[in-house]
Amino acid sequence: MSPSRTPLVAANWKMNLLREDAEGYCEALRAGLGEAESEVLIFPSFPLLPAVAAGLLGSPVGWGGQDLHPDDAGAHTGDVSGPQLADAGCTWALAGHSERRHDHGEGDGLVARKVEAALRNGLTPLVCVGETKAERDAGETLELLRNQLEMALAPIAATGRPPRPFAVAYEPVWAIGTGDTATPEIAQEAHRHLRGVLAEGLGDDVARATRILYGGSVKPHNAAELIAQGDLDGFLVGGASLDAEEFLAIIRCCDANGR
Ligand code: PGA
Repeated sequence: MSPSRTPLVAANWKMNLLREDAEGYCEALRAGLGEAESEVLIFPSFPLLPAVAAGLLGSPVGWGGQDLHPDDAGAHTGDVSGPQLADAGCTWALAGHSERRHDHGEGDGLVARKVEAALRNGLTPLVCVGETKAERDAGETLELLRNQLEMALAPIAATGRPPRPFAVAYEPVWAIGTGDTATPEIAQEAHRHLRGVLAEGLGDDVARATRILYGGSVKPHNAAELIAQGDLDGFLVGGASLDAEEFLAIIRCCDANGR
């Protein structure tokens, strides 16, 4: 991690937890957080947004939507719009999570439109990219990461400078929910490559300022060695984020590394 970037640690609850769990979690998180130096975010499922907003109001912890539709309103059953997320107090939105790509067949063009929708609605996009095991085994990882990131950011690149900051998450699909975390070396190689892609498309200043998170079986016991890598700026945490104490332990690893 570079001292020039504030670490960002995000909990992706996915399709887990109920309202009462969310309320207790927010309480525990606020109590345990203290003077965290890292920026902390929660991505709950949509029905939990009001409980999270109530539980975190006035705290330094932010929250966001796990997904959003590219349009601002309309006949799209089951979808949620950027204005609706902003209205629920969200300041962030995930775009391109591999579970959206694989469960719902979402491609890079759609991810780009979601990034645009987030920015249009004052939401900071967290753009997720990552290769499957087959793609890694075929030696396609770096090219695939370049394509995914360039496609997702194409609308921003076309207008020159990003209208607001955004963040990127490198999440190798083979590491998500499997316990098979990327080694620090594998993660650093991907992160350095992604920062290079940012520099080519959006310039050195944007590349230096943009936080690139790692996601994929991050746990309290492996967070410290990962965050010690120069191009890792925090984590997007799934399974381990469902327990407030485990999530707090990961946040503390990032705080300690920033000092
Ligand atoms: P995991 O999920 O930590 O459970 O591997 C990470 C993610 O998908 O964001």
